[in-house]
Amino acid sequence: MFNAEELQEIEALKKRYESPQAILLPVLWKLQEKHGWLDDASMTEAASICEVPKSHVLGVVSFYTMFFDKPMGRHHIMVCTNVSCMLCGGEKIYEEVKQKLGITHMERTPDGMFSLEEVECMGACGGAPMMAVGELFYERINSADALEIINTIKEKGSAPPPKRTVQLPDISEASNA
Ligand code: FES
Repeated sequence: MFNAEELQEIEALKKRYESPQAILLPVLWKLQEKHGWLDDASMTEAASICEVPKSHVLGVVSFYTMFFDKPMGRHHIMVCTNVSCMLCGGEKIYEEVKQKLGITHMERTPDGMFSLEEVECMGACGGAPMMAVGELFYERINSADALEIINTIKEKGSAPPPKRTVQLPDISEASNA
């Protein structure tokens, strides 16, 4: 599953900790990056590398929502409907995205292009409402923006760069406020 170079990286990471179990999260993340989701073989591999029972790996994968135990779309869309985003229209965005894609929470489109997830707070409340495509965050969007992002992905095969970025205050400024 891992090539020689990746195995070297894993061995180097292992040396930083007292127990191989400590690197389970990065190992799972790397496997998911490679395959798009964590199938049975990936979990067996992670258990072997981290020297933990496979039941432990299953427990970790089912606990963290960032890990997928079934195939997801090439573009995984997350729409936040938690308090800040909900108050700013997040639920409307989620409904429109659901209709546009014809799928609901944790489903993927038949062509495998998109999957959708209704998420709890993504830590971007200052830019509410927000939607993410993979690791790209789109903040202070509306339904039309969300649908435009999806159209661009369909046309160009990749997600457009976010138009707006929210500047967070410097930590020292925040502590003096
Ligand atoms: S409530 Fe949506 S990012 Fe925090």
